Amino acid sequence: MFNRRKFIKASAVSTAMLAVTKTSFANNISNVSSDAINKPIVISTWDFGVAANADAWKVLKNNGRALDAVEQGVWVPEADESNQSVGYGGLPDRDGKVTLDACIMDENGNIGAVLALEHIKHPISVARKVMEKTPHVMLAGDGALQFALEQGFKKENLLTPSSEKAWKEWLKEAKYQPVMNIENKLYDKVAPQKLPGNQYNHDTIGMIAMDVKGNLSGACTTSGMAYKLHGRIGDSPIIGAGLFIDNEVGGATSTGVGEEVVRNVGSFLVVELMRQGYSPEEACKEAVMRIIKKKPETAKNIQVGFLAMNKKGEYGAYAIQQGFTFAVCDTKKQDLVIKGKSYY
Ligand code: GLY
Repeated sequence: MFNRRKFIKASAVSTAMLAVTKTSFANNISNVSSDAINKPIVISTWDFGVAANADAWKVLKNNGRALDAVEQGVWVPEADESNQSVGYGGLPDRDGKVTLDACIMDENGNIGAVLALEHIKHPISVARKVMEKTPHVMLAGDGALQFALEQGFKKENLLTPSSEKAWKEWLKEAKYQPVMNIENKLYDKVAPQKLPGNQYNHDTIGMIAMDVKGNLSGACTTSGMAYKLHGRIGDSPIIGAGLFIDNEVGGATSTGVGEEVVRNVGSFLVVELMRQGYSPEEACKEAVMRIIKKKPETAKNIQVGFLAMNKKGEYGAYAIQQGFTFAVCDTKKQDLVIKGKSYY
């Protein structure tokens, strides 16, 4: 049963924290000297964020732009066929189609997104083209594919033999019921030997970077919920839900069951809480508590995690369930994996 006492206690703590740290972040940051800011830095969701951060770091350490860093960083899981929740090799929808969602946001508030894009290995780069080459912010389905092909992207089959096998296995029961950490169950059944450690315990990649100039950008990309209804869109390509950047304050991204993140406009909420003076972890926690408060019974059986960074280069995360990890790469350490705190 939902632990009301624990929730009331947590809410009271959050409210008290807000009272204590009432000074807005914008006032606060103006007093921080540039040397005291932890930059450059890149953070991203899950253990696989380490490899993604490493490529983002190549851009950041050479004084590159955060926008280029996040795009190139998330190319790594998008191209990794063993990763069944992002890009090429992602698990298909219930009709056997791999449909990808991605969005990107820069330091000037520019945004681009693609929804349910098929046949293109790097949806994040199509999202960037939407942002930079069109007057629009989102393209979906066939229109997104047509645009990608016009921009010179290659049409490819994204359904790998391993993901097809897993889908066919699922079809035997075809239970349309999202399962938390479905990857664990699939690999237990289909290919446990393929992935070491808990590499499979993952979902979307969300990445936030701050470059040497102190500018922020973010990217979020996923193949979405495995065996979803064809056309289903989660939080990942929705600016404000799966990702939000405000160059005055910070950035946030999410992972897990996208429907609950969309309901709460999660990443925007996290950034606004940081603006009010919450630390990144406190802001992520408050966003998680909103989900739990609205739907306590649902929340018991799903995972949602938020990851955030503020303009000082401080970062934090919070999830509903245990098991959420995130990767950090800055001047001190390039391969740090941190276990996010959780409600349960
Ligand atoms: N967070 C990924 C999704 O729900 O599609």
